[in-house]
Amino acid sequence: MTKLGIIGAMQEEVETLLEHMEEKKFTDRTSTRFCEGKLSGLDVVVVQCGIGKVNAAICTQILCDCFGVTHIVNTGIAGSLCADLDIGDLVVSRDAMYHDFDCHAFGYPVGKVPGMDTVAFPADERMMQLAVEAAEAVNPGHTKLGRVASGDQFVANPELKDRIIEITGALCTEMEGAAIAQTAYRNGIPFVILRAISDKADHSADMDYPTFERIAAHRCASVTMHLAAALL
Ligand code: ADE
Repeated sequence: MTKLGIIGAMQEEVETLLEHMEEKKFTDRTSTRFCEGKLSGLDVVVVQCGIGKVNAAICTQILCDCFGVTHIVNTGIAGSLCADLDIGDLVVSRDAMYHDFDCHAFGYPVGKVPGMDTVAFPADERMMQLAVEAAEAVNPGHTKLGRVASGDQFVANPELKDRIIEITGALCTEMEGAAIAQTAYRNGIPFVILRAISDKADHSADMDYPTFERIAAHRCASVTMHLAAALL
């Protein structure tokens, strides 16, 4: 039986999903509220994990250990790293890596976590395909499949943006995806990251972000509901 764990970092990223859920049951763990129930007919657990990599990893592990999820999706917003990706466009992860994990002093490429067998954690093929179809259903012609770069930084300057592009080759940057990906990878749970662009991760980011945050977050929630229906 499929049970989908759905992780968003902020309230805007999960509120639409919670509104659409049925048969809701709440459980608190690590000061975080997990909501079990049905979304688009599918068994799901929705959680607002909080911002950043540690919060994201904690919630992902709890979803695996305490709620028995079989699949994980991370939904939310991101800064664009690609000229072709505009505000409101959608990114589905092919894989995810850190842009701020740096052990290059010991010969590791930036992004590589020593002891892991990969720099970038690959998303599940089927979830990836279904997520692309779901994104195309919501916003046709505005979806890209590629890498997501994560770090504990809100990126709002062009120098940092360029460095992240150089290190990762990613399409977008955010603050949780790779931590969710790494945790899912270590647990052998299929995952995908689904992000809507809220800003361009440059000097305009802090101005664009408050305006587009809600629109982008709600668009992503719609795609997540389509994805849940497709996994049924
Ligand atoms: N989430 C949305 N926009 C972002 C940005 N520019 N940097 C990091 N996380 C983000």
